[in-house]
Amino acid sequence: MAAGHEAESERVHVEQSLTVSGLRARTRSHAGTRAGKVRTFGPGGPGRGTVPAGHAGTLGSVPPPFGIYVHVPFCATRCGYCDFNTYTASELSGDAASPDGWLAAARREIALAARTVGDRTVETVFVGGGTPSLLGAERLSAVLAAIRDEFAVAPDCEVTTESNPESTSPEFFAGLRAGGYTRVSLGMQSAARHVLAVLDRTHTPGRAVDAAREARAAGFGHVNLDLIYATPGETDDDLRRSAEAVLEAGVDHVSAYALIVEDGTALARRVRRGELPAPDDDVAATRYELLDARLAEAGLRWYEVSNWALPGAECRHNLGYWRDGDWWGVGPGAHSHLGGVRWWNVKHPARWAGLLDAGDAPEAGREELTAGERHTERVMLRLRLAEGMPLDLLDDGGRAAAQRAVTDGLLDGGAHAGGRAVLTDRGRLLADRVVTDLLLAEEDAVGAAGR
Ligand SMILES: C[S@@+](CC[C@H](N)C(=O)[O-])C[C@H]1O[C@@H](n2cnc3c(N)ncnc32)[C@H](O)[C@@H]1O
Ligand code: SF4
Repeated sequence: MAAGHEAESERVHVEQSLTVSGLRARTRSHAGTRAGKVRTFGPGGPGRGTVPAGHAGTLGSVPPPFGIYVHVPFCATRCGYCDFNTYTASELSGDAASPDGWLAAARREIALAARTVGDRTVETVFVGGGTPSLLGAERLSAVLAAIRDEFAVAPDCEVTTESNPESTSPEFFAGLRAGGYTRVSLGMQSAARHVLAVLDRTHTPGRAVDAAREARAAGFGHVNLDLIYATPGETDDDLRRSAEAVLEAGVDHVSAYALIVEDGTALARRVRRGELPAPDDDVAATRYELLDARLAEAGLRWYEVSNWALPGAECRHNLGYWRDGDWWGVGPGAHSHLGGVRWWNVKHPARWAGLLDAGDAPEAGREELTAGERHTERVMLRLRLAEGMPLDLLDDGGRAAAQRAVTDGLLDGGAHAGGRAVLTDRGRLLADRVVTDLLLAEEDAVGAAGR
Protein backbone atom coordinates (compact mmCIF):
# COMPACT_ATOMS: atom_id res chain seq x y z
CA MET A 1 0.00 0.00 0.00
CA ALA A 2 2.71 2.43 1.07
CA ALA A 3 4.80 1.37 -1.94
CA GLY A 4 1.83 1.94 -4.24
CA HIS A 5 1.33 5.37 -2.80
CA GLU A 6 5.00 6.15 -3.26
CA ALA A 7 4.90 4.85 -6.82
CA GLU A 8 1.94 7.09 -7.61
CA SER A 9 3.60 10.15 -6.17
CA GLU A 10 6.74 9.26 -8.11
CA ARG A 11 4.68 9.13 -11.30
CA VAL A 12 3.15 12.52 -10.56
CA HIS A 13 6.60 13.90 -9.85
CA VAL A 14 7.94 12.59 -13.17
CA GLU A 15 5.02 14.03 -15.06
CA GLN A 16 5.21 17.39 -13.29
CA SER A 17 8.94 17.52 -13.79
CA LEU A 18 8.54 16.92 -17.47
CA THR A 19 6.04 19.65 -18.23
CA VAL A 20 7.57 21.79 -20.94
CA SER A 21 8.39 24.74 -18.74
CA GLY A 22 9.40 22.48 -15.84
CA LEU A 23 11.95 20.72 -17.99
CA ARG A 24 13.03 23.97 -19.57
CA ALA A 25 13.53 25.49 -16.14
CA ARG A 26 15.76 22.58 -15.21
CA THR A 27 17.77 22.63 -18.39
CA ARG A 28 17.94 26.28 -19.47
CA SER A 29 17.74 28.22 -16.25
CA HIS A 30 21.17 29.06 -14.99
CA ALA A 31 19.55 29.98 -11.69
CA GLY A 32 18.96 26.31 -11.06
CA THR A 33 15.79 24.41 -10.61
CA ARG A 34 12.35 25.59 -9.71
CA ALA A 35 10.46 24.62 -6.62
CA GLY A 36 8.39 21.48 -6.67
CA LYS A 37 6.95 19.99 -3.51
CA VAL A 38 7.94 21.81 -0.38
CA ARG A 39 8.90 19.96 2.77
CA THR A 40 10.00 21.54 5.96
CA PHE A 41 12.54 19.77 8.12
CA GLY A 42 13.31 21.90 11.12
CA PRO A 43 14.23 25.47 11.75
CA GLY A 44 17.72 25.43 10.22
CA GLY A 45 18.62 25.11 6.56
CA PRO A 46 21.53 26.21 4.41
CA GLY A 47 19.79 29.40 3.31
CA ARG A 48 19.48 30.26 6.98
CA GLY A 49 23.13 29.71 7.65
CA THR A 50 23.17 26.12 8.91
CA VAL A 51 23.33 22.79 7.17
CA PRO A 52 20.45 20.57 8.35
CA ALA A 53 21.34 17.46 10.33
CA GLY A 54 21.73 14.50 8.03
CA HIS A 55 23.08 16.62 5.20
CA ALA A 56 26.24 17.77 6.89
CA GLY A 57 27.41 14.19 6.28
CA THR A 58 26.86 14.60 2.55
CA LEU A 59 29.08 17.63 2.60
CA GLY A 60 31.73 15.75 4.56
CA SER A 61 32.05 12.87 2.06
CA VAL A 62 33.62 13.41 -1.36
CA PRO A 63 31.64 16.46 -2.40
CA PRO A 64 30.63 17.25 -5.97
CA PRO A 65 32.01 20.43 -7.58
CA PHE A 66 30.74 23.60 -5.92
CA GLY A 67 29.70 26.68 -7.91
CA ILE A 68 28.25 30.09 -7.14
CA TYR A 69 25.45 31.60 -9.22
CA VAL A 70 24.80 35.34 -8.85
CA HIS A 71 21.51 36.77 -10.09
CA VAL A 72 21.37 40.36 -11.39
CA PRO A 73 17.69 41.39 -11.55
CA PHE A 74 17.93 44.42 -13.86
CA CYS A 75 17.01 44.81 -17.53
CA ALA A 76 16.79 47.99 -19.64
CA THR A 77 13.56 46.72 -21.23
CA ARG A 78 11.64 43.46 -20.97
CA CYS A 79 11.68 41.07 -23.92
CA GLY A 80 8.17 39.82 -24.64
CA TYR A 81 9.04 36.11 -24.28
CA CYS A 82 11.02 36.31 -21.04
CA ASP A 83 9.69 35.28 -17.61
CA PHE A 84 12.95 35.48 -15.69
CA ASN A 85 13.01 37.34 -12.37
CA THR A 86 14.08 40.70 -13.73
CA TYR A 87 12.85 44.31 -13.51
CA THR A 88 13.11 47.48 -15.53
CA ALA A 89 13.99 50.78 -13.80
CA SER A 90 10.34 51.89 -13.81
CA GLU A 91 9.34 48.72 -11.91
CA LEU A 92 11.72 49.39 -9.01
CA SER A 93 12.36 52.32 -6.73
CA GLY A 94 14.85 53.32 -4.04
CA ASP A 95 17.87 51.22 -3.21
CA ALA A 96 16.37 48.14 -4.87
CA ALA A 97 16.66 49.91 -8.19
CA SER A 98 20.25 50.89 -7.62
CA PRO A 99 23.13 48.70 -8.74
CA ASP A 100 25.07 49.80 -5.62
CA GLY A 101 22.20 48.75 -3.33
CA TRP A 102 22.15 45.37 -5.09
CA LEU A 103 25.94 45.03 -4.76
CA ALA A 104 25.87 45.75 -1.01
CA ALA A 105 23.20 43.07 -0.48
CA ALA A 106 25.02 40.59 -2.76
CA ARG A 107 28.17 41.03 -0.62
CA ARG A 108 26.11 40.19 2.47
CA GLU A 109 24.70 37.04 0.90
CA ILE A 110 28.16 35.94 -0.27
CA ALA A 111 29.36 36.30 3.34
CA LEU A 112 26.34 34.26 4.55
CA ALA A 113 27.16 31.56 1.99
CA ALA A 114 30.78 31.43 3.14
CA ARG A 115 29.76 31.17 6.80
CA THR A 116 27.54 28.23 5.86
CA VAL A 117 29.72 26.28 3.41
CA GLY A 118 33.02 28.14 3.74
CA ASP A 119 35.17 25.04 3.43
CA ARG A 120 34.09 24.42 -0.14
CA THR A 121 36.40 25.52 -2.96
CA VAL A 122 34.59 27.48 -5.64
CA GLU A 123 35.15 25.78 -9.00
CA THR A 124 32.83 27.95 -11.09
CA VAL A 125 31.07 31.32 -10.85
CA PHE A 126 28.22 32.33 -13.16
CA VAL A 127 26.74 35.84 -13.04
CA GLY A 128 23.41 35.75 -14.86
CA GLY A 129 20.27 37.73 -15.17
CA GLY A 130 18.63 39.83 -16.05
CA THR A 131 21.35 41.89 -17.63
CA PRO A 132 24.60 41.77 -15.66
CA SER A 133 26.31 44.06 -18.18
CA LEU A 134 24.09 46.92 -16.90
CA LEU A 135 26.19 46.82 -13.70
CA GLY A 136 29.37 47.74 -15.59
CA ALA A 137 32.75 45.98 -15.36
CA GLU A 138 33.72 47.60 -12.06
CA ARG A 139 30.76 46.28 -10.08
CA LEU A 140 30.97 42.87 -11.76
CA SER A 141 34.64 42.74 -10.75
CA ALA A 142 33.61 43.71 -7.20
CA VAL A 143 31.25 40.71 -7.10
CA LEU A 144 34.11 38.37 -7.97
CA ALA A 145 36.42 40.11 -5.50
CA ALA A 146 33.81 39.56 -2.74
CA ILE A 147 33.69 35.84 -3.60
CA ARG A 148 37.51 35.69 -3.48
CA ASP A 149 37.52 37.47 -0.11
CA GLU A 150 35.12 34.97 1.41
CA PHE A 151 35.94 31.65 -0.30
CA ALA A 152 38.86 29.60 -1.52
CA VAL A 153 38.61 29.88 -5.30
CA ALA A 154 40.18 27.21 -7.55
CA PRO A 155 43.10 28.57 -9.62
CA ASP A 156 41.37 27.41 -12.81
CA CYS A 157 37.93 28.68 -11.71
CA GLU A 158 35.58 29.29 -14.66
CA VAL A 159 34.04 32.75 -14.20
CA THR A 160 31.22 33.63 -16.62
CA THR A 161 29.01 36.66 -16.95
CA GLU A 162 26.00 37.00 -19.17
CA SER A 163 25.83 40.27 -21.09
CA ASN A 164 23.40 41.88 -23.46
CA PRO A 165 25.02 42.97 -26.73
CA GLU A 166 23.73 46.56 -26.49
CA SER A 167 25.26 47.22 -23.06
CA THR A 168 28.80 46.09 -23.85
CA SER A 169 31.88 47.77 -25.34
CA PRO A 170 35.59 46.95 -25.81
CA GLU A 171 36.31 48.82 -22.55
CA PHE A 172 33.68 46.77 -20.72
CA PHE A 173 35.26 43.50 -21.85
CA ALA A 174 38.77 44.74 -21.00
CA GLY A 175 37.52 45.63 -17.51
CA LEU A 176 35.98 42.17 -17.06
CA ARG A 177 39.23 40.46 -18.09
CA ALA A 178 41.18 42.62 -15.66
CA GLY A 179 38.66 41.70 -12.95
CA GLY A 180 39.26 37.96 -13.45
CA TYR A 181 36.35 36.87 -15.67
CA THR A 182 37.20 34.01 -18.04
CA ARG A 183 34.01 33.58 -20.06
CA VAL A 184 31.26 35.76 -21.57
CA SER A 185 27.77 34.68 -22.65
CA LEU A 186 25.89 37.02 -24.99
CA GLY A 187 22.20 36.92 -25.92
CA MET A 188 22.07 37.11 -29.70
CA GLN A 189 18.82 35.19 -30.36
CA SER A 190 18.75 35.71 -34.15
CA ALA A 191 20.54 37.35 -37.06
CA ALA A 192 17.19 38.30 -38.67
CA ARG A 193 15.91 41.79 -37.93
CA HIS A 194 12.23 40.78 -38.18
CA VAL A 195 12.75 37.90 -35.73
CA LEU A 196 14.47 40.22 -33.24
CA ALA A 197 11.45 42.52 -33.59
CA VAL A 198 8.99 39.71 -32.70
CA LEU A 199 11.19 38.94 -29.67
CA ASP A 200 11.29 42.65 -28.65
CA ARG A 201 15.10 42.66 -28.76
CA THR A 202 16.55 46.15 -28.84
CA HIS A 203 19.91 45.40 -30.52
CA THR A 204 20.57 45.25 -34.26
CA PRO A 205 21.31 41.86 -35.85
CA GLY A 206 25.03 42.62 -36.18
CA ARG A 207 25.63 43.93 -32.67
CA ALA A 208 25.87 40.52 -30.95
CA VAL A 209 28.47 39.32 -33.46
CA ASP A 210 30.48 42.54 -32.99
CA ALA A 211 30.25 42.18 -29.21
CA ALA A 212 31.49 38.57 -29.41
CA ARG A 213 34.45 39.73 -31.50
CA GLU A 214 35.18 42.55 -29.04
CA ALA A 215 35.15 40.03 -26.18
CA ARG A 216 37.59 37.79 -28.04
CA ALA A 217 39.83 40.76 -28.87
CA ALA A 218 39.88 41.64 -25.15
CA GLY A 219 41.34 38.19 -24.47
CA PHE A 220 38.29 36.04 -23.74
CA GLY A 221 39.02 32.54 -25.02
CA HIS A 222 35.53 31.39 -24.07
CA VAL A 223 32.55 33.21 -25.58
CA ASN A 224 28.99 31.89 -25.89
CA LEU A 225 26.16 33.17 -28.09
CA ASP A 226 22.53 32.32 -27.20
CA LEU A 227 20.09 31.67 -30.04
CA ILE A 228 16.31 31.21 -30.01
CA TYR A 229 14.81 29.28 -32.93
CA ALA A 230 11.30 28.57 -34.27
CA THR A 231 10.09 32.09 -33.46
CA PRO A 232 6.87 32.81 -35.41
CA GLY A 233 7.88 34.34 -38.75
CA GLU A 234 11.39 32.83 -38.74
CA THR A 235 12.30 30.89 -41.90
CA ASP A 236 14.85 28.12 -42.43
CA ASP A 237 17.02 30.70 -44.20
CA ASP A 238 16.80 33.07 -41.23
CA LEU A 239 18.15 30.33 -38.98
CA ARG A 240 20.86 29.45 -41.54
CA ARG A 241 21.94 33.10 -41.43
CA SER A 242 21.98 33.03 -37.64
CA ALA A 243 24.19 29.93 -37.71
CA GLU A 244 26.60 31.58 -40.18
CA ALA A 245 26.73 34.73 -38.05
CA VAL A 246 27.57 32.71 -34.93
CA LEU A 247 30.36 30.93 -36.79
CA GLU A 248 31.72 34.20 -38.22
CA ALA A 249 31.86 35.57 -34.68
CA GLY A 250 34.34 32.76 -33.89
CA VAL A 251 32.72 31.72 -30.60
CA ASP A 252 33.54 28.37 -28.96
CA HIS A 253 30.07 27.76 -27.46
CA VAL A 254 26.46 28.08 -28.61
CA SER A 255 23.25 27.63 -26.60
CA ALA A 256 20.06 27.36 -28.66
CA TYR A 257 16.52 26.96 -27.38
CA ALA A 258 13.22 26.62 -29.20
CA LEU A 259 11.07 29.61 -28.30
CA ILE A 260 8.88 28.78 -25.31
CA VAL A 261 5.67 30.74 -24.82
CA GLU A 262 5.75 31.33 -21.07
CA ASP A 263 2.49 32.02 -19.24
CA GLY A 264 2.05 35.62 -18.20
CA THR A 265 4.40 37.08 -20.81
CA ALA A 266 3.55 39.64 -23.48
CA LEU A 267 4.29 36.95 -26.06
CA ALA A 268 1.69 34.63 -24.50
CA ARG A 269 -0.90 37.43 -24.66
CA ARG A 270 -0.12 38.06 -28.34
CA VAL A 271 -0.46 34.36 -29.15
CA ARG A 272 -3.73 34.17 -27.21
CA ARG A 273 -5.14 37.17 -29.09
CA GLY A 274 -4.23 35.50 -32.37
CA GLU A 275 -1.70 38.19 -33.32
CA LEU A 276 1.04 35.57 -33.59
CA PRO A 277 0.86 31.82 -34.24
CA ALA A 278 2.20 29.53 -31.51
CA PRO A 279 5.63 28.04 -32.31
CA ASP A 280 5.25 24.74 -34.16
CA ASP A 281 6.93 21.59 -32.78
CA ASP A 282 7.66 20.11 -36.22
CA VAL A 283 9.20 23.37 -37.39
CA ALA A 284 11.27 23.48 -34.20
CA ALA A 285 12.51 19.92 -34.85
CA THR A 286 13.55 20.76 -38.43
CA ARG A 287 15.34 23.92 -37.27
CA TYR A 288 17.12 22.01 -34.52
CA GLU A 289 18.44 19.51 -37.08
CA LEU A 290 19.51 22.28 -39.41
CA LEU A 291 21.40 24.12 -36.68
CA ASP A 292 22.95 20.96 -35.25
CA ALA A 293 24.25 19.89 -38.66
CA ARG A 294 25.86 23.27 -39.39
CA LEU A 295 27.43 23.60 -35.93
CA ALA A 296 28.76 20.03 -36.07
CA GLU A 297 30.28 20.71 -39.50
CA ALA A 298 32.17 23.62 -37.92
CA GLY A 299 33.44 21.43 -35.07
CA LEU A 300 30.97 22.57 -32.39
CA ARG A 301 29.65 19.33 -30.90
CA TRP A 302 26.50 18.95 -28.84
CA TYR A 303 27.30 18.06 -25.24
CA GLU A 304 23.81 18.76 -23.89
CA VAL A 305 20.68 18.71 -26.02
CA SER A 306 20.59 22.54 -26.28
CA ASN A 307 24.32 23.28 -26.01
CA TRP A 308 27.24 22.94 -28.44
CA ALA A 309 30.95 23.59 -27.86
CA LEU A 310 34.38 23.14 -29.33
CA PRO A 311 36.18 20.32 -27.47
CA GLY A 312 37.16 21.59 -24.01
CA ALA A 313 34.87 24.65 -24.17
CA GLU A 314 31.86 23.08 -22.44
CA CYS A 315 30.40 25.31 -19.71
CA ARG A 316 31.59 23.72 -16.46
CA HIS A 317 29.11 25.68 -14.36
CA ASN A 318 26.08 24.40 -16.24
CA LEU A 319 27.56 20.88 -16.25
CA GLY A 320 27.47 21.19 -12.46
CA TYR A 321 23.68 21.67 -12.57
CA TRP A 322 23.22 18.79 -14.98
CA ARG A 323 25.52 16.41 -13.11
CA ASP A 324 23.84 16.93 -9.74
CA GLY A 325 26.48 19.31 -8.38
CA ASP A 326 26.19 21.74 -5.48
CA TRP A 327 25.78 25.48 -5.86
CA TRP A 328 24.77 28.54 -3.92
CA GLY A 329 22.54 31.01 -5.74
CA VAL A 330 23.10 34.62 -4.60
CA GLY A 331 20.49 37.25 -5.45
CA PRO A 332 16.72 37.78 -5.58
CA GLY A 333 14.88 34.63 -6.59
CA ALA A 334 18.11 32.62 -6.95
CA HIS A 335 17.91 28.88 -6.30
CA SER A 336 20.54 26.82 -4.48
CA HIS A 337 21.28 23.12 -4.03
CA LEU A 338 23.46 21.36 -1.49
CA GLY A 339 23.44 17.59 -1.12
CA GLY A 340 19.76 17.05 -1.97
CA VAL A 341 18.50 20.17 -0.14
CA ARG A 342 17.19 22.93 -2.39
CA TRP A 343 16.13 26.41 -1.37
CA TRP A 344 15.21 29.60 -3.12
CA ASN A 345 15.35 33.27 -2.24
CA VAL A 346 12.53 35.80 -2.10
CA LYS A 347 12.00 37.18 -5.59
CA HIS A 348 11.66 40.91 -5.11
CA PRO A 349 15.00 42.77 -5.06
CA ALA A 350 13.85 45.18 -2.31
CA ARG A 351 12.66 42.38 -0.04
CA TRP A 352 15.79 40.32 -0.72
CA ALA A 353 18.08 43.27 0.08
CA GLY A 354 15.94 44.30 3.08
CA LEU A 355 16.24 40.87 4.70
CA LEU A 356 20.00 40.80 4.23
CA ASP A 357 20.35 44.38 5.52
CA ALA A 358 18.47 43.35 8.65
CA GLY A 359 20.86 40.42 9.18
CA ASP A 360 18.26 37.84 8.11
CA ALA A 361 18.53 35.13 5.48
CA PRO A 362 16.70 35.88 2.21
CA GLU A 363 15.35 32.32 1.89
CA ALA A 364 11.70 32.06 0.77
CA GLY A 365 11.33 28.28 0.95
CA ARG A 366 13.13 25.01 0.67
CA GLU A 367 12.61 21.33 0.03
CA GLU A 368 14.49 18.17 0.76
CA LEU A 369 14.38 15.84 -2.19
CA THR A 370 13.60 12.20 -1.51
CA ALA A 371 15.98 9.65 -2.96
CA GLY A 372 13.32 8.90 -5.59
CA GLU A 373 13.02 12.55 -6.58
CA ARG A 374 16.81 12.90 -6.84
CA HIS A 375 16.84 9.82 -9.04
CA THR A 376 14.15 11.31 -11.32
CA GLU A 377 16.12 14.54 -11.67
CA ARG A 378 19.37 12.69 -12.32
CA VAL A 379 17.82 10.69 -15.16
CA MET A 380 16.09 13.78 -16.61
CA LEU A 381 19.24 15.86 -16.67
CA ARG A 382 21.94 13.28 -17.37
CA LEU A 383 20.14 11.70 -20.27
CA ARG A 384 20.23 15.07 -22.05
CA LEU A 385 24.05 15.02 -21.95
CA ALA A 386 26.08 13.57 -24.84
CA GLU A 387 27.96 11.46 -22.27
CA GLY A 388 24.59 9.96 -21.29
CA MET A 389 24.24 7.98 -18.10
CA PRO A 390 25.14 4.51 -16.84
CA LEU A 391 22.38 1.96 -17.44
CA ASP A 392 22.89 0.62 -13.93
CA LEU A 393 21.32 3.79 -12.60
CA LEU A 394 18.03 2.27 -13.80
CA ASP A 395 16.19 -0.71 -12.34
CA ASP A 396 15.11 -3.73 -14.42
CA GLY A 397 11.97 -1.99 -15.73
CA GLY A 398 13.97 1.11 -16.73
CA ARG A 399 16.63 -1.03 -18.43
CA ALA A 400 13.95 -2.89 -20.39
CA ALA A 401 12.59 0.48 -21.56
CA ALA A 402 16.14 1.49 -22.54
CA GLN A 403 16.40 -1.67 -24.66
CA ARG A 404 13.12 -0.75 -26.39
CA ALA A 405 14.44 2.76 -26.99
CA VAL A 406 17.49 1.25 -28.74
CA THR A 407 15.15 -0.79 -30.97
CA ASP A 408 13.17 2.39 -31.72
CA GLY A 409 16.36 4.22 -32.68
CA LEU A 410 16.17 6.67 -29.77
CA LEU A 411 19.14 5.37 -27.75
CA ASP A 412 22.50 4.51 -29.25
CA GLY A 413 23.07 0.73 -29.66
CA GLY A 414 26.87 0.87 -29.30
CA ALA A 415 26.75 2.95 -26.13
CA HIS A 416 24.01 0.66 -24.78
CA ALA A 417 26.22 -2.39 -25.35
CA GLY A 418 28.89 -0.57 -23.35
CA GLY A 419 26.49 0.00 -20.43
CA ARG A 420 25.36 3.58 -21.10
CA ALA A 421 22.13 5.25 -22.19
CA VAL A 422 23.02 7.87 -24.82
CA LEU A 423 20.52 9.63 -27.06
CA THR A 424 20.77 9.19 -30.84
CA ASP A 425 20.21 12.19 -33.13
CA ARG A 426 16.54 11.22 -33.34
CA GLY A 427 16.45 10.60 -29.61
CA ARG A 428 17.57 14.19 -28.99
CA LEU A 429 14.43 15.43 -30.76
CA LEU A 430 12.33 13.22 -28.50
CA ALA A 431 14.44 13.50 -25.34
CA ASP A 432 11.45 14.25 -23.08
CA ARG A 433 9.65 11.14 -24.32
CA VAL A 434 12.67 8.90 -23.75
CA VAL A 435 13.09 10.25 -20.21
CA THR A 436 9.39 9.72 -19.45
CA ASP A 437 9.46 6.16 -20.84
CA LEU A 438 12.49 5.18 -18.77
CA LEU A 439 11.20 6.65 -15.54
CA LEU A 440 7.64 5.41 -15.82
CA ALA A 441 8.89 1.91 -16.70
CA GLU A 442 10.87 1.66 -13.51
CA GLU A 443 9.33 -1.08 -11.50
CA ASP A 444 8.70 0.66 -8.25
CA ALA A 445 9.53 3.95 -6.68
CA VAL A 446 10.95 2.22 -3.63
CA GLY A 447 13.57 0.60 -5.85
CA ALA A 448 14.35 3.98 -7.36
CA ALA A 449 14.45 5.57 -3.94
CA GLY A 450 17.03 3.08 -2.77
CA ARG A 451 19.52 4.24 -5.37
C1 LIG B 1 17.33 35.07 -19.34
S1 LIG B 1 18.41 35.38 -20.59
C2 LIG B 1 19.69 36.28 -19.86
C3 LIG B 1 20.68 36.82 -20.87
C4 LIG B 1 20.55 38.23 -21.32
N1 LIG B 1 19.70 39.02 -20.52
C5 LIG B 1 20.05 38.33 -22.75
O1 LIG B 1 18.84 38.30 -22.94
O2 LIG B 1 20.87 38.45 -23.63
C6 LIG B 1 19.18 33.85 -20.98
C7 LIG B 1 18.75 33.23 -22.28
O3 LIG B 1 17.58 32.47 -22.08
C8 LIG B 1 16.94 32.30 -23.34
N2 LIG B 1 15.49 32.47 -23.15
C9 LIG B 1 14.87 33.27 -22.25
N3 LIG B 1 13.52 33.13 -22.34
C10 LIG B 1 13.28 32.19 -23.31
C11 LIG B 1 12.10 31.60 -23.87
N4 LIG B 1 10.89 31.98 -23.47
N5 LIG B 1 12.25 30.68 -24.84
C12 LIG B 1 13.47 30.28 -25.26
N6 LIG B 1 14.63 30.81 -24.77
C13 LIG B 1 14.54 31.75 -23.82
C14 LIG B 1 17.51 33.37 -24.28
O4 LIG B 1 18.26 32.75 -25.30
C15 LIG B 1 18.39 34.20 -23.38
O5 LIG B 1 19.53 34.67 -24.04
S1 SF4 C 1 17.28 41.07 -21.73
FE1 SF4 C 1 17.48 38.86 -21.20
S2 SF4 C 1 16.79 38.69 -19.07
FE2 SF4 C 1 16.16 40.73 -19.80
S3 SF4 C 1 14.06 40.46 -20.46
FE3 SF4 C 1 15.36 40.10 -22.26
S4 SF4 C 1 15.82 37.85 -22.29
FE4 SF4 C 1 14.97 38.39 -20.27
